[in-house]
Amino acid sequence: MDSKQGFTSKIGFVLAAAGSAIGLGNIWRFPYLTAKYGGGIFLLTYLILVLTFGYALLISENCIGRMTGKGPIGSYRDLCKGQKSFLGFLRIGGWINAIVPIIIVPYYCVIGGWVAKYIVALTVNPISRFHRDASVIVDGQKISASQAYFTEFISSTWSPIFYFLIFIAILVIVVACGVEKGVERFNKILMPLLILMLIAICIYSIFLPNAGAGFKYYLKPDLSKFSYMTVVAAMGQLFYSLSIAMGIMVTYGSYMRKEDSLISNVNQVEFFDTFVAFLAGMMIIPAVVAFGGEKAAEAAGPGLVFITMPQVFANFPGGKIFGIIFFLLVLFAAATSAISLLETNVQTIGQELKLTRKRAIIWGVAEILVIGIVTVLGYSVLSFVHPLSFIDRY
Ligand code: PFF
Repeated sequence: MDSKQGFTSKIGFVLAAAGSAIGLGNIWRFPYLTAKYGGGIFLLTYLILVLTFGYALLISENCIGRMTGKGPIGSYRDLCKGQKSFLGFLRIGGWINAIVPIIIVPYYCVIGGWVAKYIVALTVNPISRFHRDASVIVDGQKISASQAYFTEFISSTWSPIFYFLIFIAILVIVVACGVEKGVERFNKILMPLLILMLIAICIYSIFLPNAGAGFKYYLKPDLSKFSYMTVVAAMGQLFYSLSIAMGIMVTYGSYMRKEDSLISNVNQVEFFDTFVAFLAGMMIIPAVVAFGGEKAAEAAGPGLVFITMPQVFANFPGGKIFGIIFFLLVLFAAATSAISLLETNVQTIGQELKLTRKRAIIWGVAEILVIGIVTVLGYSVLSFVHPLSFIDRY
């Protein structure tokens, strides 16, 4: 790999690492899991886990990267150097860390494409198209127009590929500009914008009629809703949201300047990630409860953002503009995270195959294109291959 890449400022590291951590996990996954697993009790469990397990893991991963100055495979190899038997075998952890983002990034970009499509959809269509009362008959069954729109879109052939390619084009441009001019600068602009938009939509949600019941559902833990699944789901969300065990934080730790305090950097990343997840819950859950009651919240799943949220916006004043802002903010969050996933892959491919950055990017993008297009087609021409259409069940 050519000249050593790295962040040029402390804020550059914090915004880029927060940009990586803050993604679909915070804005798409956290709210639907919270809604599904009982609101306040899930939030409380998640917060406890983040402050304990999450914090320790985040610090360790950044430490490993900073100490070795390498990506996950190189780092684990260095850590296990000279170790015999089982400890030496643990270097396999580096490979596991490296493979996860390679597997995840294509599907992440497919969802990024869906988000881009919804920005266009809300801009060109009248918002009433997604209204609660709008419905269509599909296969003899009456379903909401919003559900039909989403299903029709993901099961068409060309449109999801087109938006997937647009999303990838954004990533390639940013990563090709390098860590400093691309990743760091992109995050410095988008992350503050993202927070501003999030606050704007939270204020919108707070003033919705009946939002009070939703706040109670979100903020007041109800012990009767606690089960071991609350802990399992919260733990899974922790790994997803903080980008742990994916080589990302090891890579970013290796880019951190030696003179910066690791603890203070990591504190800020953990704080931002958790704060944004909290705000995302605040912007979505009261709105969903105001729209359809606690039942609508508990029935939530991965379709929450793409099916329920457009309906929520269609049923409240100012919905079109807030709907567009909402999807723009999801797009920013998805793009900054996808960049970190691609950046990690580029570093791994470059170091392990001894390729220049340019070649490593070409390999990284080729992999996304192949697996991503197969994933997209899993909803249309390849839908007979059952496991391919996994994203909306995730
Ligand atoms: N942590 C980011 C998110 O919450 O969306 C990005 C991410 C990394 C997501 C790794 C998922 C993942 F497996």
